[in-house]
Amino acid sequence: MSLLNYRNNILYFEDVSLNEIADKIVTPMYIYSQSTLENNFNKINEALNKILGKEQEKLIAFSVKSNSNIAIINRLHNLGSGADVVSVGELKRSLNAGIKGNKIVFSGVGKTSEEMLFALEMDVVQFNIESISEINQLSEIASSNNKIAPIAFRINPDIVAGGHEKIATGGSNTKFGIPYSEALKAYEYAKSLPGINIVGIDIHIGSQITNLEPFSLAFQKIRDLYDKLIIGGHNIINIDLGGGIGIKYIDTDEPFLLEDYANLVNKNFGDLKCKLIFEPGRCIAASAGILLTKVIRDKNSYNNNFLVVDAAMNDFMRPALYGAKHKILSVNKDNNSDKKIDYQVVGPVCETGDVMGEIVSSRIMNSGDYIIIKDVGAYGAVMSSNYNSRPSVPEVLIKGSNFNVIRKTITTDELLAFESIPSE
Ligand SMILES: Cc1ncc(COP(=O)(O)O)c(C=O)c1O
Repeated sequence: MSLLNYRNNILYFEDVSLNEIADKIVTPMYIYSQSTLENNFNKINEALNKILGKEQEKLIAFSVKSNSNIAIINRLHNLGSGADVVSVGELKRSLNAGIKGNKIVFSGVGKTSEEMLFALEMDVVQFNIESISEINQLSEIASSNNKIAPIAFRINPDIVAGGHEKIATGGSNTKFGIPYSEALKAYEYAKSLPGINIVGIDIHIGSQITNLEPFSLAFQKIRDLYDKLIIGGHNIINIDLGGGIGIKYIDTDEPFLLEDYANLVNKNFGDLKCKLIFEPGRCIAASAGILLTKVIRDKNSYNNNFLVVDAAMNDFMRPALYGAKHKILSVNKDNNSDKKIDYQVVGPVCETGDVMGEIVSSRIMNSGDYIIIKDVGAYGAVMSSNYNSRPSVPEVLIKGSNFNVIRKTITTDELLAFESIPSE
């Protein structure tokens, strides 16, 4: 059940009136509902527990790239979540939020030596390795520091999946993973390296996947590989199935049920005595977040009704980057008049692509009205920039009728302090 509801024609998130919070803090701002975040985590955890059984060893490692605010990571940690990280920055955030190395997996195609060493010192669960040169480097770092690095190879199964070509990571034309046909050779090679302990297999084929078919094909390939590795004498104790579970952003999105996903996992891996690792991001964080923004003005040009708002593509990149569609709602409920106005919601940034989406309103929207963009808790604030010298917007966490600022605005004056003009 959504915790975003109209009460007396005013939109509330949990028990917070969005008109009131907009007046108290500043727009634009990201607002996260703690209860929605927790419900989303619990839903996937319960679906896996129900189908796989509670005795199945598993780790839900929240994909920190989707939302890396330490308060968000902390709330998930309180529910038992681990973390999937792709940089030392994300690793430090996860540690800061309370997650220990023994619940953190280190993914990413470009880990540096410094990052490897720090992760080794933090005793992460495993390094998900994406190339032979990476494992050579890790072997060198680990052995020269008297450490043993637990590793899984990320396998690229050559399966294209995901809501947009730029978030499909499992195809042969992407930079990700080791080609499936070279996997056995890579494991044999890794066995010979000092400082390396093979512990697992990893895949992540894409994001915003709403159809189970690509997961089914990829899981079968990974199971086949597992069987071959066991015959070859490898000790595989972790199977990391990545993230990718899609959500319903707009009415035409039809994501699969979490229980069906869990059934597929069970069918392919339920008989093994391995720890199953999952790296969900979007399905936990997206619907927990909204972007609250204020109308600056409306503008009619060549029969287009533009609504210029104070949030822009630098605050929320998904529409400009992926053509992503998000629902947009007015904080003051529309009346039911038949006459509807179709507004294009645009930001102040000087790019034609600075379009947030559309809102169909039955009343004229005025300067000072508030609107929200839905489902922005994943890949929202984390992707923001200061393009057009715009400040970083605040993030707020609400629970019931309480709210806390969990990231302050970073003003242009503060950003300017990092720059200097050389004397010559
Ligand atoms: C390696 C890895 N794991 C997990 C995720 C999280 O994916 P999602 O947010 O679709 O669950 C990503 C994001 O694309 C990723 O690159």
